Formats: sequence, structure tokens, C-alpha cells
Amino acid sequence: MAGKHVLVLGCGSGPTLVDLVDCGATPVGIDGSPALIDIARERLGPDVDLRVADLADPLPFDDDVFDDVVSSLALHYLEDWTSPLAEMRRVLKPGGRVVLSVEHPFAMWLAARQVGTKTNYFATRSRHESDIAGESVDLTFWDRSLSTMLQSFLAAGFRITHVGEPGP
Ligand SMILES: C[S@@+](CC[C@H](N)C(=O)[O-])C[C@H]1O[C@@H](n2cnc3c(N)ncnc32)[C@H](O)[C@@H]1O
Repeated sequence: MAGKHVLVLGCGSGPTLVDLVDCGATPVGIDGSPALIDIARERLGPDVDLRVADLADPLPFDDDVFDDVVSSLALHYLEDWTSPLAEMRRVLKPGGRVVLSVEHPFAMWLAARQVGTKTNYFATRSRHESDIAGESVDLTFWDRSLSTMLQSFLAAGFRITHVGEPGP
């Protein structure tokens, strides 16, 4: 990664940014939470470009400027992936890569079924969380099937070279 210019979407408090800096990359972090960007700033110091922005909006960068785009566990908060994926493609240099993770779509469907909620796996559907590990939260996730995710990337003009998943 040394020398790479990498955009981290939904960077949160910055763990991936720290790893990228350690590898010699030049990361840029975007997150919708000013509080998390403040924590990232404390961890990374003044030299890393960190911005508060909504991933649903156009990205504040020129075309063809990043070698890679990384996004860990953030895209599943967005209902519509059309513009965000088009924007990722726009800011990537030709041949650039997207590396991302999302919650496992089938795990979410199974969890809903276990608490008696009937959901259509193939629908893009919202899921509200108000309690995570005893903490009161107000989170809306947008779940969708694996095929919907992959088709979204293909429709945006990406070539998919790897799909991995952890064991259950
Ligand atoms: C589960 S956290 C992951 C954070 C970080 N990528 C990590 O791996 O630690 C999801 C992040 O996505 C951000 N996020 C969610 N929706 C967003 C949106 N519409 N625009 C920008 N950031 C968003 C949240 O603020 C949060 O930092």
C-alpha cells in the first residue's frame, strides 16, 4: 500500500486509517459523524485529510484521484447504492480497487426470523436498532440480498474479483 492514495468511506474513529498510514499509504477519511471524525483526528494528528460528509451525497473530490476506495461496515446504512457506487467509480483512477465489508445479508435475515419477524430476503428493507449490547442507540440499517449487492456493483461498472465471508 506504500504510496497509495486511498479513500476510506465511513471511516468512523479511524482504525483503517491508522493501518493505512502504518503501511505508508496516504488515506483520506470521510464519515457522517463529527464526533467520530474528532476521535479519528486525535488518533491521526493534523496531517491526515478527514472530512464530515454524507455518503449519500456526491463525493467532494475530482475524478480519477484515488488508487483504492475502502469501506468497512458502512454501506449497509444507505438505502440507495446507485449514486454512492457511481461516485466511488468516478473518483477512482482507471484500474483502481474498491475493498469493502458489509454485514452478512443472510445472518440479518436469520436473526429477524428468530425473533418472529417475517422479511422478504430479496427486498431492500430497513431495520431499526434501538439497543446494542445494552446501549440505547438509534440506527437504521438497509438490508438487501447478496445478489442485489453484487448486481449493484456490476451495474455501476465494477468488475468483482473476490467475495469472502467469515464462518458463522
Ligand atoms: C459500523 S461503523 C464502522 C466504522 C469504521 N469503518 C470501522 O471499521 O471502524 C459505520 C460508520 O459509518 C458511518 N456512516 C453511516 N452512515 C453514513 C452516511 N450516510 N454518511 C457517512 N457516514 C456514515 C457511521 O458514522 C460510522 O462511523
